[in-house]
Amino acid sequence: MQARAPLMIEHRLIERMLSVIRDSLAKIKSKHKVDPVFVDIAVDFIRVYADRTHHGKEEDILFRKLKKQRLSAEDRRVMNELIEEHTFGRQTTKALVDANTRYRNGDETALADIAEKLQTLILFYPKHIEKEDKVFFPASRAYFTDEEDQTMLAEFWAFDRKMIHEKYTKMMNDLELL
Ligand SMILES: [Fe+2]
Ligand SMILES: [Fe+2]
Repeated sequence: MQARAPLMIEHRLIERMLSVIRDSLAKIKSKHKVDPVFVDIAVDFIRVYADRTHHGKEEDILFRKLKKQRLSAEDRRVMNELIEEHTFGRQTTKALVDANTRYRNGDETALADIAEKLQTLILFYPKHIEKEDKVFFPASRAYFTDEEDQTMLAEFWAFDRKMIHEKYTKMMNDLELL
């Protein structure tokens, strides 16, 4: 298995969440309401799975290794674009959380903001995934030998092993502060 395989498999699960969000958006528009718990679940998936676990491997391992290579101008440009898109995703998610809190507190005008942020996520994310799957991952593979690629795969697995512990340690830390 090549190192990019787990990243591409993760993209498929992220796409399933995007599809669920697309369906929920249609319901928000027809019923003029949203279940804030659904938004919490989507945010948890985006933050813990898509951002920390998935973007974490991209940024902390793949991109970090690529930054040490002599990348072509085009590959460097695309990598910087991908990093900016991760940041944009985080900002959009933060705005979604803020809108959901306002909605929970009875602010009906927050519904439009929730819908807008969900819409933004389902529009921008598939393009980001496609750019990685079809352009950046194949291009970046050329900078590594087979052995280096396998070392990276092992680093990905080691990174993943930390994630469940990180999530629940954080949850306990947060709970104890309540
Ligand atoms: Fe990415
Ligand atoms: Fe990705």
